[in-house]
Parts: sequence; C-alpha cells; structure tokens
Amino acid sequence: MKYTKFLTFGLLAAAAAWAANARQQVTFHKDVAPILQSHCQECHRPGEIAPFSLLSYTDARPWAKAIKSDVVTKKMPPWFADPRYGHFADDRSLSKQEIDTLVAWVDGGAKEGDLKDAPKPRQYVDGWNIPKPDLVLDMNTFHIPAKGDIQYMYVVLPTKFTQDQWIQAAEARPSDRTVVHHVVIFVRDPESKWLREAEPGVPYVPPGHGKDFNNTSGGGNDILMIYTPGKVPEMWRPGLGKMIKAGSDLVLQIHYTASGKETDDHTKVGLVFAKEKPTERALTIGGNNLSFKIPPGDPNYRVDAKNVFPNGVTILNFFPHMHVRGKAFEYRAVYPDGKSEVLLRVPKYDFFWQLDYTLTQPLILPPGSRIEVTGWFDNSPNNPANPDPTATVRFGEQSWEEMMIGFYDVVMPADMSMKEFFTPKKPVTAPTTTSGQ
Ligand code: HEC
Repeated sequence: MKYTKFLTFGLLAAAAAWAANARQQVTFHKDVAPILQSHCQECHRPGEIAPFSLLSYTDARPWAKAIKSDVVTKKMPPWFADPRYGHFADDRSLSKQEIDTLVAWVDGGAKEGDLKDAPKPRQYVDGWNIPKPDLVLDMNTFHIPAKGDIQYMYVVLPTKFTQDQWIQAAEARPSDRTVVHHVVIFVRDPESKWLREAEPGVPYVPPGHGKDFNNTSGGGNDILMIYTPGKVPEMWRPGLGKMIKAGSDLVLQIHYTASGKETDDHTKVGLVFAKEKPTERALTIGGNNLSFKIPPGDPNYRVDAKNVFPNGVTILNFFPHMHVRGKAFEYRAVYPDGKSEVLLRVPKYDFFWQLDYTLTQPLILPPGSRIEVTGWFDNSPNNPANPDPTATVRFGEQSWEEMMIGFYDVVMPADMSMKEFFTPKKPVTAPTTTSGQ
C-alpha cells in the first residue's frame, strides 16, 4: 500500500517535472513559428494590413504579452463564425492546443530556441497573396482628405481582352490600406450601358449620389471579387473560374474613409489566368433587401431577403455585408420540403472585419431550394458605432445609411447563361398512360 502511494507520488512528481520542463522548452523556432506561419503572417508581414510583422523572432518578441492576451480572448486571429454551424476552409481560428502553446511560450519567457528547429519560411510573391499575376490593372491616383465623408468612387478599368478570359485567382491591392474600407470589383459586360460616361482609370461619382441603386449595384453585372481588410483574395479551385467576356471592363467601387491624415491611393487589381478553360463558372449572387426602414432606437431590428433556385444550386462561400448598425447575420438553406438549415451564423458582426466564409465542401441544394439571409441591426444608443440612434435608417451607400446584402458564390456550368441558370427547366412530364383505366 505504502509502496503504491509512494509510486503514485513519484509518478506525479515526475509528470509535474516533465510538464514544467515541457513548458520551459516551448520555443519560438520549434513551436511558435509554425502557428504564426499558418494563422498570422498572411496579415502580419511587411506590406499587409496588420501594424507589425510576426515573421521572425525579433519581430514577434516585443509583442509576446499582447499575443497571449489577444489569442486567449480570441481577438486574434479575426474570425467570427459560430463554430456550431458549417466547416470553412478559410477558418483561421486557433485550436485550444495552439492557444495553449502560445500561452506556454509567453509564460515561459518567450524563448527563442534553436534556429535549427525552425520551419522553412513561407514563400510569398512580393506584394501579392496570389501567385504572380498575368495581368495587373491600375487606376489614377485618388487624393483622400484628412477628414469628412467621401462619396463612393467608381473606376472603370478596361481589360482590353479580345477573347473570353477565364480567371483562376484575383486580388485587389490598395496602395494605402488605411483609407480603403472596401472595393467591389464588377465585371462590366460589353453590352452593359452602366457608367459608360465615366472616363477610364479616373475615380468617378455617378449621378444620384449613391441613392440610385441602378448606379451602385453593378447594373446586373457579375462581381469578380470583393476586397476588405482581412479577407483572403479569390483563388478558385482548378476546373472552376470567373469569366470575363471579351471586351469587358472591370469597374471598381471603392469606399474610402478618411483616417485623419491626408493621403493618396491607387488600387491595383492582379489577375491570374486559368491555364485551360474551366468546366464550371463561379458567379456571385446577393440576397438583397432595399426597402427596409430601421426605426429609431431599435436594438434588434430584423431584415430578411431570399433567392430561389428553381434548378438547384451549388454554394461555395458566404460574405455578409452590413454597415455600422449591423449586429448579427445568418444564412439558411430552405429545402423544397420546407426543412431549414443554418449554413453560417455570425453572432457578433463587426463592420471593420468583413470576412469571407468559404465552405470546406461546396453545398449542393436540390431544385426548388432557396437561400434565406437575415441581418439584425442595433440602432440603439448602446451601439457605440451608431452615428445617430434617433434616425430612421434606410438603404444607402454611406456609412450612416445601411445595407443588408448576403453575398455568396454559386457554381454554374461554364457555358450556361445566367438567364438559363434561373429559368425553371420544363418539368419532365411522365408519358400519360391510358391503359388500365
Ligand atoms: C486577417 C488579418 C490578421 C490575422 C490573420 C491576424 N492579425 Fe493580428 N492584427 C491584425 C490587424 C489589422 C491588427 C491591428 C488592428 C486591430 O488591433 O484590430 C492586428 C493586431 C494584433 C495585435 C494587437 C496589438 C495591440 O496593439 O494590442 C496582436 C497581439 C496580434 N494582432 C496578434 C496576432 C496573432 C498572434 C495572430 C495569429 C494567431 C494574428 N494576429 C492574426 C490583422 C490580423
């Protein structure tokens, strides 16, 4: 008996000593660098959106305490999906084990360790998060004042494509990220009349000052991609791409926000061409509501929208969009039998982190299914971002106005037209039998 007790104690002591030892041995090169590579460096490296680099030990060491507190509180890395719903390929949240490792590293004195243990540094194409672009389009420089509201700018960038071009990856890069809240890149068809009056390359404010939805929504044209800080650039899997028809232009819708410092920006677009024609085309769709009226002071106002897919649909990703009163967001699939399933829930929407949520497995819905989107708004004085709780808030481009758009990408056969995609196929009628009557 005594002997067993002694043995147990001995084992426990050994285990504790081992654990203490293990904690001491958590080092930057061996344990921390791999986590920073896969979860942090996309933003924390020179030229990207984060204010400091986490590439090397010297870069990371001064931030050790802040790293510990931000990963424990889940402030970093930014990720907002409710983990109960859906699996996302771009989920950058840390596992409990990864958080424990970072904490143990900081608590153990943020040791460097042996460079021999370091993982191979990740290779980045200089200035891009996509592979080296085949084409880079640039706009004229725009001057951003230190203060005040800035109208949405629209910039037409001709592609000069003489044949239909399939795109495998696309990225937008502002030259000054501190003032670019978002960029929506539309593909303007050669037949489209939208913004024909705008001079190529020159930032332009269309008539209507953002109130005319026809001028703000892309005029029915496809969206190539959306840039927001922290959103991964678009890289479609082999066999799938975005199509830019010969003679099309890109139209950038840029939302600049003054940062307190005068500055200039020109946003570049990089395109990687598909090596061969894909069999499937990605198309961006929005569940959109334009007619809502959020009452003054309402802490939880609900706005809904839906799209019906008569021929079924395959969904790739989600991108919720609201402004500063946005509080929570949800996407649901509703099957033809009426069953409903939550696909993505963002319980705490953050206007400053508008992220993309790409499904690990594309979701295939049968004919007659619909996608429902719901946004909740906080127009009360308790919302610190609320510019005016006494206002009735409607759709509009500016930050004091609101939007409720649930963007998502769907897959269609490469050669199908958008009209065909949404037109119900004639039901296959069974041959009528007269026998047996
Ligand atoms: C999607 C981009 C992105 C990723 C990924 C990301 N960060 Fe950040 N990080 C930022 C930005 C932008 C800021 C500054 C603004 C802010 O604090 O929200 C920031 C701020 C921080 C700060 C706060 C510094 C302070 O002033 O307190 C720490 C610490 C930090 N990040 C650590 C990390 C770590 C560790 C990871 C990975 C586990 C990570 N970040 C991943 C973009 C990112």
